[in-house]
Amino acid sequence: MDANSRVILSNQTGPHDDLARRVARALTHPLRKPVAEHTRAAFVAAQAWLADQHKPLILDSGCGVGLSTRELARRFPDHALIGVDRSESRLTREHGELPANARLVRADLVDFWRLALDAGWRPERHYLLYPNPYPKAAHLKLRWQGHPVLPALLGLGGRLELRSNWRLYVEEFALALTQATGITAEVEAYRPEGETYLTPFERKYHLSGQALWRLVARLPHAPDLMPRP
Ligand SMILES: C[S@@+](CC[C@H](N)C(=O)[O-])C[C@H]1O[C@@H](n2cnc3c(N)ncnc32)[C@H](O)[C@@H]1O
Repeated sequence: MDANSRVILSNQTGPHDDLARRVARALTHPLRKPVAEHTRAAFVAAQAWLADQHKPLILDSGCGVGLSTRELARRFPDHALIGVDRSESRLTREHGELPANARLVRADLVDFWRLALDAGWRPERHYLLYPNPYPKAAHLKLRWQGHPVLPALLGLGGRLELRSNWRLYVEEFALALTQATGITAEVEAYRPEGETYLTPFERKYHLSGQALWRLVARLPHAPDLMPRP
């Protein structure tokens, strides 16, 4: 991957004006999109694998090629790592054998998080590493903080870590988090230490001279955050 990644350009200069309304809506209006059959099947298989692990769960949501899932599995040998991404081509890129405590799952997170919440999953840690920024103002609803699935993501609970090369993304997420849960989380600069990058995007952005941002929040398990039909 080359290291001349462009900085994010957006027509937004601050948090989106419509963010609070969208979060309020997500908290009160059930998300009616049916769960895709392929994600349901992938979830059932992941659940069986997890049950065999007998270890607390760490989720790596939007794991891309799964390098972070592999690395986190090595850092947390007493945990079971599940990396989820919807891109078959990313997931199937050859990056060496998966550690025994890691599994990659092809699924849409919009469905996967709801299934996980309904199944009572309680990740101890949850990583959201460099989600697609969707920087155009018109695309707020595609960012996780503006998406109707936000209450499911937050309701899973655990130590949630979001990283992005777009400060505004993390700032907006922090606002949405506080609105939905009352919990505040600091938006901080993140400097990868030495040459250890958790993900290919982190490496690419850092080597391109871009600043990186992150937020860490400790969330209670709160399945009732997600409104039900
Ligand atoms: C910018 S990439 C970051 C990948 C990886 N975390 C990294 O830092 O190298 C964002 C990833 O999120 C995945 N993604 C976006 N929306 C998704 C969704 N609804 N369900 C599952 N994966 C999704 C994309 O396929 C992509 O691999």
